[in-house]
Amino acid sequence: MNVAIVGTGYVGLVAACCLAKSGHLVFAVEKDLTKLEILKKGKVPFYEDGMDEILKETISNGNINFTSNLSLALQNSSIIFIAVGTPALSDGRADLLQVCTVAEEIIKNINKSITVVMKSTVPPGTGKIICDRFFNNSKYPIHYVSNPEFLREGKSVWDWYHPDRIVIGCDDESVAQKIADLYSDIDAPKEIMDVTSAEMVKYASNAFLATKISFINEISNLCELVGGNIDQVARAVGMDTRIGNQFLQSGLGYGGSCFPKDTKGLKYVSSSNGYQFNLLKAVIEVNYQQRTEAIRKLNRLLGDLWGKRITVLGLAFKPGTDDIREAPALEIIKYLADEGAIVRATDPMAMEKARPVLPLNTELFTDPYDALVGAEAVLLATEWPLFVNLDWATVKKQMNEPFVIIDGRNALNAHQLISLGYRYEGYGRSIRS
Ligand code: UGA
Repeated sequence: MNVAIVGTGYVGLVAACCLAKSGHLVFAVEKDLTKLEILKKGKVPFYEDGMDEILKETISNGNINFTSNLSLALQNSSIIFIAVGTPALSDGRADLLQVCTVAEEIIKNINKSITVVMKSTVPPGTGKIICDRFFNNSKYPIHYVSNPEFLREGKSVWDWYHPDRIVIGCDDESVAQKIADLYSDIDAPKEIMDVTSAEMVKYASNAFLATKISFINEISNLCELVGGNIDQVARAVGMDTRIGNQFLQSGLGYGGSCFPKDTKGLKYVSSSNGYQFNLLKAVIEVNYQQRTEAIRKLNRLLGDLWGKRITVLGLAFKPGTDDIREAPALEIIKYLADEGAIVRATDPMAMEKARPVLPLNTELFTDPYDALVGAEAVLLATEWPLFVNLDWATVKKQMNEPFVIIDGRNALNAHQLISLGYRYEGYGRSIRS
């Protein structure tokens, strides 16, 4: 099938490349001309495992074409995906300006009946609004489909081909089937439902995963008070197949471009519909507290932070990505700098993106060992294997007393570090030095 995709961010580019790899002819539309040139040269403008190869392959076999011309892409396609950003506004609402702008351009440029597929994450109810505002009055019939994505950054190519389900929201059975056929090479249940339900599946899924994280973080905090060990607790709780063992890792909490935005977005949708989603409010609040908890731990072990050398390992919101959006490390570094600490940081992928948003006096190092020389404390903010597998005996020789380690991801070997003489503190691990 011929498919146009508007927007080449994480979602749009992965969708474009993977659909092209599956044999569809894809026209990817990007209005940022600098980015467009990068893409045409076969380069992925962000770090994502496996994407370089697929992009090069699909460019060379001619299955993917990049253009800034939406009208051209529309002329060549019968299906158009919208995959532009929906960032959070200051009140938590999703900003739908880019989505609406694309919808308006589609209306201006079509000359035949088409199917519009919404891949951008939009709040429940948006499809109805977009159809009423733009598509229902079109001179050519437009079918509207909500087809949310469940890709994880860093694993998006794997997730594309191995989804737990493909959700298709459409009020017309034959159109829904046409979209299901786009994914005929993917072995996953195709869940067909109405548009608003499909939109809700996306928000409910992210909110539920965020809830699991905040829940285990609350249990972890309680473990610290009563003396339990969260690793053992989470492991055994997760063995109950009704609960499941994923998203039970306690620590600094969730970041990224999705969970923080979508939980706040769902809270906004709830309150604007007169409903108080109290559980979700608590999830958001707990996640915020987990970051301040790292500061509290540093304060307790170092005393006043003024003039203390603290090294932060990790700037990306999770390993496997260079994405720093809502990364806990950034907020913590700002706080430490405000308190007068001398902050050093390192990350294998995210330094270029982080540099412009960090306090000016943050010292950045390429080599983690260099970043740790003279440090009195270290905070592991992102559990990159590179950091987890450091030679901690060597590191200790380079650091200064009191050799504090705050393990913000419970990823380090606490017993080994304590035996090396570190003052180790994780989250909910009642193994203290
Ligand atoms: C998330 C969802 O997992 C995807 O299914 C979804 O498609 C995507 O959002 C989206 O809406 O686009 P992603 O943001 O890439 O994907 O990251 P996750 O791997 O889900 O991790 C999110 C955050 O939760 C990270 O900061 C991670 O460190 C944290 N986390 C995750 C925990 O603190 N504990 C855990 O047990 C798991």
